Amino acid sequence: MFNSRIIATGSYLPKKILTNSDLAKTVDTSNEWILERTGIEQRHIAAEGELTSDLASEAAKKAIANSGLKVEEIDMIIVATTTPDLTFPATATTVQAKIGAKAAFAFDIQAVCSGFVFALATADNFIKSGQVKNALVIGADKLSSIVDWTDRNTCVLFGDGAGAVILQATEEKNPKEKRGIVASSLYSDGTLNDILKTSGGPGLNQKSGFIEMAGKEVFKHAVDKMVKSVISTLDKAGLTTKDIDLLVPHQANLRILNAVATRLELPEEKVIITVQKHANTSAASIPLALDHANSQKKIKDGDVLVLEALGGGLTWGSVVLKW
Ligand code: ACO
Repeated sequence: MFNSRIIATGSYLPKKILTNSDLAKTVDTSNEWILERTGIEQRHIAAEGELTSDLASEAAKKAIANSGLKVEEIDMIIVATTTPDLTFPATATTVQAKIGAKAAFAFDIQAVCSGFVFALATADNFIKSGQVKNALVIGADKLSSIVDWTDRNTCVLFGDGAGAVILQATEEKNPKEKRGIVASSLYSDGTLNDILKTSGGPGLNQKSGFIEMAGKEVFKHAVDKMVKSVISTLDKAGLTTKDIDLLVPHQANLRILNAVATRLELPEEKVIITVQKHANTSAASIPLALDHANSQKKIKDGDVLVLEALGGGLTWGSVVLKW
């Protein structure tokens, strides 16, 4: 029986930083309003011509370097993204070419802000079935290309970035000492499509459209559904919230993060928070936060980590893993 462990992480943020004060020069907002309602201080914005596949490839190269693997040893690449370079081919195939992972098959997953959780759970199943040994799982988004920069309700919330992990098959010797991904849960409710969506798409109007959102509704669903999903995934793993060493949540908004942590009765030091520095980067936000925690040596061997997200669809879910 195989289990899958994250053996390395990597991330990439574009060089250009857009602060709240910069935004206040172009839309009717203020640093104080954004900080108070979201906790966000700044976001990174991709350079002219810098694509999601470029962000993803930079994060992937770092994760591969940190893993000690040769790029030819990667068998599968999944890119979770809502902002693919093109309608097709999949951004994952472009990443494959850019990093030279010749032996890998590659495809994208579209579950918006939950994309990384969906991609990780998918890769885990490929590994557990014995089909894949080394999976490169990436969350990458260039939301700056689908944000309406004149809409203060949404433009202050988002940014660009990418994060990646290498998920590796490990043989289970003692099931009691199970390491790696222990349980995952994925959910969708398409009847809630309308509260978080884009105004366009290739089928509808041949445009990519801009993000539209009913902020208060999304907020309510996010807190409620993420809390329930964490509890039920822990339950599947035979654990409770008391067993959590680190929560690595989707970085949407500090108020959502705090509300979830409070409902789970988690102290501040058990929650990884990076949203202030890069805003909501959709599928990239969990692997960015995870790489931050990993590189800061905040994760100890054997720690129980919970990853959780909610995004457009609605889609939501959690992964429980033992580091
Ligand atoms: N600057 C200044 N004023 C603003 C801004 C802004 N950037 N945006 C909205 N306002 C105004 C509104 O126009 C409104 O003014 P009015 O009272 O005159 O009508 C006032 O501020 C209050 O607006 P609300 O929408 O009630 O503000 P709220 O407290 O709900 O905060 C927010 C808005 C931050 C969007 C909040 O609803 C939220 O965080 N929602 C979750 C959305 C989210 O994170 N989405 C990301 C994608 S989903 C995910 O990742 C989980």
